[in-house]
Amino acid sequence: MVKKSQEYIVRIYTLNHQAQGIARIDGFVVFVDNVLVDEVVKIKIEEVKKEYARAKLIEVLEKSPHRKQPECPYYYLCGGCHLMHAKYQYQLSLKKLLVEDAFRRIGKLSPRINDVIGMEKPFRYRNKTALPVGGDYKNPQIGFYKKMTHDIVDIDYCLIQHEVCDDVIKGMKDLIRKYNIEVYSEKKHQGVLRHIVVRNSFAFNEMMIILVCTKVPENLETIKKDILNKFPKIKSLYVNLNPKRTNVILGEEDILIWGSSTIKDKIGNLTFEISPKSFFQVNSVQTEVLYSQVVKYIRNIDAEIVFDVYSGIGTISMFVAPFCKKVYAIEIVEDAVEDAKKSSKNNGISNIEFICGSAEIEIPKLMKSGIIPQAVILDPPRSGCEKELLESLIKQKIPNIIYVSCNPSTLARDSSILCSNGYEVVEVQPVDMFPQTFHVECVALLKKGCS
Ligand SMILES: C[S@@+](CC[C@H](N)C(=O)[O-])C[C@H]1O[C@@H](n2cnc3c(N)ncnc32)[C@H](O)[C@@H]1O
Repeated sequence: MVKKSQEYIVRIYTLNHQAQGIARIDGFVVFVDNVLVDEVVKIKIEEVKKEYARAKLIEVLEKSPHRKQPECPYYYLCGGCHLMHAKYQYQLSLKKLLVEDAFRRIGKLSPRINDVIGMEKPFRYRNKTALPVGGDYKNPQIGFYKKMTHDIVDIDYCLIQHEVCDDVIKGMKDLIRKYNIEVYSEKKHQGVLRHIVVRNSFAFNEMMIILVCTKVPENLETIKKDILNKFPKIKSLYVNLNPKRTNVILGEEDILIWGSSTIKDKIGNLTFEISPKSFFQVNSVQTEVLYSQVVKYIRNIDAEIVFDVYSGIGTISMFVAPFCKKVYAIEIVEDAVEDAKKSSKNNGISNIEFICGSAEIEIPKLMKSGIIPQAVILDPPRSGCEKELLESLIKQKIPNIIYVSCNPSTLARDSSILCSNGYEVVEVQPVDMFPQTFHVECVALLKKGCS
């Protein structure tokens, strides 16, 4: 019987979809973080459940040739990254295996999966971060949550964020101390400042800071002046009000305190407006790679009408617009749709119709009205597509579906539904949008067969 606090020596025989190592002790499954396949490690059991246990790595006794020293001093504490102990090439091959495994296990499919397209410089790539704030005004903590907890790992910098984020971490700690800003306590549901969200444009000298607060902080006018002095790149400063006891970071109300309501960023030659609540891919460099793959498929299809479903601020729509007659872009967040309209005008693109609404309602409606696309691009949240949406595409026998996904499990699940209804996955192209983590983005091309 596996016992809590006991130490064991085990061999790691595989990694799961969250890059956790799996070992077996007398057949009982044990999950271990920060290990690699075939390593022999000493572990200490931290938690025993009915079907599995979790253990902490104590020592690596037989090292994988793919192991390296993590560059970040916070790595073993912080839950933000999961693979910094593995060489980058190995991270990429592992992600390919994770995608293959999801298709095989969940989708019961084995499509062609290409090698993952990685980054030349897999650090400092993120353009957005949400930093929880903890501690108190004398000793503020800003960082990320420890794995599987809401305990904050206090940091001075983060190697996957842009450097301006480090300045914000340091600068905001100074301001909390200087103005005695009341820090929010999740346990007591008391205090004011909960999170600091930073959006940073890689192409332009622009940054948005959102102070997520339970109420408007006292001295806001003075704090504002100090923020503007400290962060010269700032273009937009918001207070977002989130008074609820919730894990959701942003509350409903955004109050623009200073500057422009949006910031701009660029992907390829196109410029985009971004509001606080709008989705924008976090890795601007790799987004161009991802979208190029979508464009390649669209060009080969030679489609007149394309639906861009879950369109965010219309980025994919604008990339594919030159290669078809008309794009219909469907997105549920109103601010994102407004951003998209502004950007398409600024980019001189006039063949996109932007529709604000839920995909599962708007897509069947469009097709019922006689607008039938030759290709549909899907880019849903991690939870994947609603069943009603997939059913409407199946019913209409849409010949080409390009599925962009940040979650191989739901991509495999939805592909399986489509493949049970006459579709075939032609190929899957994974792109590494999230180096040092287990996350991977994929573009899958599905075609309706003759049946
Ligand atoms: C992964 S993002 C993709 C956005 C965009 N395609 C891009 O590349 O930036 C998913 C988007 O779907 C939107 N969304 C979520 N549920 C939706 C629904 N039921 N109907 C339409 N859009 C939805 C989100 O607001 C978000 O903008």
